[in-house]
Amino acid sequence: MAKNTSIHGEWSTRFAYILAATGSAVGLGNIWKFPYITGENGGGAFVIVYLACVLAIGIPIMMAETLLGRRGRQSPINTMAALAIESEVDKRWSYLGWMGVIAGVLILSYYSVIAGWAIAYVFKAIFGGFSSETAVVKQSFDDLIASPGQLIFWHSVFMIATMTVVMRGVRGGLEKAVQLLMPTLFVLLIILVAYAMSTGEAYFQGLNFLFSPDFSEIDGHAVLTAMGHAFFTLGLGMGAIMVYGSYLPSGISIMKTSLYIAGADTLVALFAGIAIFPLVFANGLEPGSGPGLIFQTLPLAFGNMTAGWLFGILFFVLLVFAALTSSISLIEPFVAWLVENRGFSRINASVVSGGLTWLLGVSVALSFNVWSDVTIFEKNIFDCLDYLTANLMLPLGGFFISVFAGWFMKEQFVKEELAIPDVIYQVWLILVRYVAPISVSLVFLNVLGIF
Ligand code: TRP
Repeated sequence: MAKNTSIHGEWSTRFAYILAATGSAVGLGNIWKFPYITGENGGGAFVIVYLACVLAIGIPIMMAETLLGRRGRQSPINTMAALAIESEVDKRWSYLGWMGVIAGVLILSYYSVIAGWAIAYVFKAIFGGFSSETAVVKQSFDDLIASPGQLIFWHSVFMIATMTVVMRGVRGGLEKAVQLLMPTLFVLLIILVAYAMSTGEAYFQGLNFLFSPDFSEIDGHAVLTAMGHAFFTLGLGMGAIMVYGSYLPSGISIMKTSLYIAGADTLVALFAGIAIFPLVFANGLEPGSGPGLIFQTLPLAFGNMTAGWLFGILFFVLLVFAALTSSISLIEPFVAWLVENRGFSRINASVVSGGLTWLLGVSVALSFNVWSDVTIFEKNIFDCLDYLTANLMLPLGGFFISVFAGWFMKEQFVKEELAIPDVIYQVWLILVRYVAPISVSLVFLNVLGIF
């Protein structure tokens, strides 16, 4: 039944797919979010839980999500419907695709605002340079987020950039954007790590914070955040990697590509942490200072180092591009569905989905200033959206993806897509059938206070 190629086109090579999927994985999640949530959750123990989630839940689910996409060859909504028919199970599995589309829009609405901060920092780097004084750097960040006009402006710039790339489609838009940027970002991170080493004592304090675990810092909520972040950073649970998988030519190993992608993503996050925490300690900052953490620390490094202005500009430009290669995957499931089911051109589909996301993003921009006292469950709009998507919707999506691939899809189809030796297949099967769904359930139940 499944058509052998997608109507939206295909990746030209295996490498192009790896770059695109790594582009989706590596983004603000690694460089902005990982350090600040690690800081808020006490460091080392949180990092270990996060790494364990990537290994035991993230990688197996990434393989499952990719194989569903490649088998279905359509937008996640239609893919799930087609696969349900093919395996003769309930068609309501397509709701999983819908949940993903909604999660993608919700995530992108705040992702774009934060990416907007990064664009603003490119201009700060170009026109003002960065100060080497903690108080000045902090003030500059506070001024930015206090300004609704600036936040909405930069958010708009980022959304326009995203939709422009998305309009151009799989090969033209998505592939080209990633080829050079990912490797360059990596090199720059290494320069930052080298700088962090020059902080002496603070360097070891930073490493100690990141890598020596104190499990008394960890409760159910911290575990939920770590697990949610494993989904977020790998870009799992909402159909992004499913839709990318639907453009994946057959014959390419889903296991190998998943391992590369998860490996690269994890390395970038760890390097970001190694670069940032020494700066936090060297400058007497609080690890738990929240979403502003990298914007209050990295400028100090650039303000102090030789040729820091140049590295500063480069770094924030690359951060924006890393965010861009992630944001396109967040909206692609929606765009693909509008094209398939509503007969939209890619251009119209991009304008409609982007417009909706932009509007929601405006409320996020306002939640940092004029609407900061608008709260739901004691969280402002930004925190609420982040919690709802990363901690609840993505793990829930991942739960259903693993249950579908492990229990409902006909085994023969799963085996055809994975094409791995039987021993490895059996290990994977245990992970998607039991380990992943049970872990997600236990963490949910714990947070709900049921045990
Ligand atoms: N993984 C990206 C990051 O870390 C964000 C992202 C892209 C994402 N696509 C996704 C998150 C799909 C969840 C689901 O910045």
